[in-house]
Amino acid sequence: MTRSFPVAGDGPRVLVVHGPNLGALGRRDPAHYGTIDLDAIMARLGSLAGELGVAVEGLQSDHEGAIVEALLGARAAGVAAVVMNPGALAHTSYAVRDAVEAAGIPVVEVHLSNVHARERFRRHLAIAPVAAGVVAGLGPASYELGLRAAAGLVGRR
Ligand code: DQA
Repeated sequence: MTRSFPVAGDGPRVLVVHGPNLGALGRRDPAHYGTIDLDAIMARLGSLAGELGVAVEGLQSDHEGAIVEALLGARAAGVAAVVMNPGALAHTSYAVRDAVEAAGIPVVEVHLSNVHARERFRRHLAIAPVAAGVVAGLGPASYELGLRAAAGLVGRR
């Protein structure tokens, strides 16, 4: 499934990308991901965007190719920076990593859970070396800190 979240706020546009299985937040493994769903996360980012002077919009996709296309097309579509939770693609996807490198705009990687404190396979981060930075382990605050970082990177803050 692929789903878009409409623009909230005004200013340089920040696209928030959520990878596979993140559409199930709220009912998925609450011990690691809490009970807040994607709509609530996007609503929190929408209010923060107003404070930071940026506009946020969102995309959730379970499809690697849709994420690659979104990253490659973002700059031409007027997006200034990306905050991305790649989900498990963070550990496996060199296609998404290459798209981050080719995007031409900063991409901040975020994770709800502390991927370094979980199974061994989650410690390998394939995309992180080409991200502008990584925030992990702070629940929904990881997204909020990621948005603050993105706002700083596009000159708002
Ligand atoms: C996640 C961590 C990943 O390991 C996992 O596959 C996810 C969510 C997080 O936000 O903590 O889908 O990216």
